[in-house]
Amino acid sequence: MQKKRLLSGIKPTGSPHIGNYFGMMKQLVDMQGDYEVFAMVADYHALNTIQNADEMQKLTKEIVIDYLAVGLDPKKITLFKQSDITEHTELTWIFDNLVTVPFLQRAHAFKDAEAKGKEISVGVFNYPVLMAADILLYDTDVVPVGSDQKQHIEYTRDIAQKFNNVFEETFKLPTEKIIESVATVQGIDGRKMSKSYNNTIGIFDTDEEIKKKVMSIVTDSSGELPQNVYNIHKLFRNESELKPIYENLKGKYKDIKEKLAEDIINYFTPMKERREKFANNERLIKKVLKNGAKTASRIAKAKMDDVKTKIGVI
Ligand code: TYM
Repeated sequence: MQKKRLLSGIKPTGSPHIGNYFGMMKQLVDMQGDYEVFAMVADYHALNTIQNADEMQKLTKEIVIDYLAVGLDPKKITLFKQSDITEHTELTWIFDNLVTVPFLQRAHAFKDAEAKGKEISVGVFNYPVLMAADILLYDTDVVPVGSDQKQHIEYTRDIAQKFNNVFEETFKLPTEKIIESVATVQGIDGRKMSKSYNNTIGIFDTDEEIKKKVMSIVTDSSGELPQNVYNIHKLFRNESELKPIYENLKGKYKDIKEKLAEDIINYFTPMKERREKFANNERLIKKVLKNGAKTASRIAKAKMDDVKTKIGVI
């Protein structure tokens, strides 16, 4: 039986945090044997914020290494860079003529930016359309993501349906895969973990950084349980293991946090060690991206030929 196809992406905007890891990266690693996996570096999406060539180069290479370090095997999967496959932006333009301005105005990310009074670029406005192109070009079945991306996958289905209705049945409707227990990983202040809130614990942070961040997790001493600590701890141990630990150390927040820091460090140390082996291996990074682009390009080109035929430009 043919394997189902899975695609997801991450923006090269800095070192991944445990929200990125549990929400998306780990899912790709766990599923790479059973699915045909496409792991993308969403550099054109990152252009919203990374507008410096050296920085873009550096962050892109780093995210490739991060993908390998967490356990993605380039022999089993296709790891590629969005900008290497020009069909993504080409298809975006075609979709742009099918979606309306009010449709995009309803996007959460756009509404948030607007509410904050930000000056919004056309790229930010159009972000969901590029994301739809990323997914639909590959006839993707499943898109593993955190819950913040849910609306983008709904938009992707809407856009696919619109195209299929206006022209002919062309695009498969993808489904998001959101694991409830890690749909929104909390940050050290109890809000969603996010680089923009400055509340992250990086998976490749040094042991010292991890300890420092864990010690600064906001605790509410009025409750039975230091909920913010517990919520992060749940990612690393199951609740039946955690219960006795939290009962024994009841009220001893410093000791509990030390235990959490130790668990986080132990969990990520093997990945950190793997990362050190790959870091600075320019040849490996180039080779992985070249091979990835070859596979992705073959599929994207064939799909674009079909799309162009359907819309009547070839
Ligand atoms: P990005 O780079 O913001 O985040 C990468 C992935 O990490 C997940 N994530 C979280 N999951 C749980 N808890 C959190 N606190 C948390 N923070 C981040 C995100 O949900 C995401 O899955 N638009 C995408 C990149 C993208 C993409 C795609 C994804 C571009 N094209 C096509 C899937 C398919 C983004 O900005 O992810």
